[in-house]
Amino acid sequence: MKHSPVVSLINRRTLLRQWSAGAIGLMFVSGKLPSAIAAEESRLLVHSKAPMNAEPPLPDLVRSWVTPVESFFIRSHGNTPEINADSFRLSVEGLVETPLRLSQAELSRFEQHAVTATLTCAGNRRTEHSRFKPIKGVQWREGAIGNAKWRGVKLSDVLKKAGVREAAKHVWFEGLDSVEDGGKTFAFGGSIPLEKALLDRDVVPGALLATTMNDKPLTADHGFPVRMVVPGYIGARSVKWLSKIVVSDRPSPNHFVADVYKLVDEGTLLEVAENAPIYRMPLNSAICTPTAGAALKPGRVEIAGYALPPGVPGVAIRKVEVSADQGRSWVDAKLTSPASEFCWQLWSADVAVNSATKELILRAIDSRGEVQPETVRWNAKGYLFNAWHHVPLKVS
Ligand code: MTE
Repeated sequence: MKHSPVVSLINRRTLLRQWSAGAIGLMFVSGKLPSAIAAEESRLLVHSKAPMNAEPPLPDLVRSWVTPVESFFIRSHGNTPEINADSFRLSVEGLVETPLRLSQAELSRFEQHAVTATLTCAGNRRTEHSRFKPIKGVQWREGAIGNAKWRGVKLSDVLKKAGVREAAKHVWFEGLDSVEDGGKTFAFGGSIPLEKALLDRDVVPGALLATTMNDKPLTADHGFPVRMVVPGYIGARSVKWLSKIVVSDRPSPNHFVADVYKLVDEGTLLEVAENAPIYRMPLNSAICTPTAGAALKPGRVEIAGYALPPGVPGVAIRKVEVSADQGRSWVDAKLTSPASEFCWQLWSADVAVNSATKELILRAIDSRGEVQPETVRWNAKGYLFNAWHHVPLKVS
């Protein structure tokens, strides 16, 4: 994809300078990376190294529909565990007829399926929430999202083998990492309704136990040797370093299901207790190039970005619109990538800008006719920010 020559990619030296000056809480990966990716190959901007939280510069995201691993965001709450694949076992327990303990070799004997699916963090675009009122947590820009080709075993096949009991309603996942929170140390966990686990649609499984990402074994940062991938759901449900699957009659009591990843105004215990966990990802979109603050000459500018359909089965992106005049008129963007369930679509648009242009505004519309909201309600954790995307420009 061609980018406007006036758009400059974030440059390593500038970023380091800004970071050391405290201007932004990000820096480029340097030195040893706790994954198979060599530091010089990684394009990520690091929010924190322990735990590892990093996102790509936005222009990198629109280079290809499938995001290369070196440009794929990393969101970890604890350490990146080193796992011996030979002694690794995945247990399947709870409301099942036959509990299982599966080695890698046993997992590889299940029928293998590939699916391309977008993973996005519920906290993507948190910085925009934080502008209204500061929010604690990783200050994600618009890059906590990526689209990858995953390969592995359908969760429904594993559950079939174990035999799900009548009372089952939810499936819990547990990782091998250690998260420290509130003076306690525990593993990251997630859970999904049993209906989702069993909802295999055409080529898209309800959930996949993935062992490869873009045709290579998962890297340590992305969950080696096995992770969940739950297409259409927020990234938090796609548990990495998967060690345990529990079939239950209720959602997981894990902190990241019971307390975190919920929409709350203040975050009081009552609110947390009253609200359900977030599952689906929302309709969303962002301009990836030009980036905020870009200096442009009056004339035509090529802009590009992503649009994400909501995690509702069968719903796709219908339209992406850009405005260069504060929403008075809108230009249709061209969808430039494949459309596939629970995957983002890349788009580009050719827009005229002049000295009166202060910003570009973007919104996506889905196949049900639902428009991305102009504004969203602030929430204490800064989740699911999906308001129209504004990119300020300097045109002179
Ligand atoms: N799984 C474990 N075990 N530990 C984690 O911290 N983070 C979750 C999810 N799975 C997490 C996890 C969150 S919040 C997201 S958004 C995705 O992993 C990110 O996946 P990635 O790092 O491969 O991009």
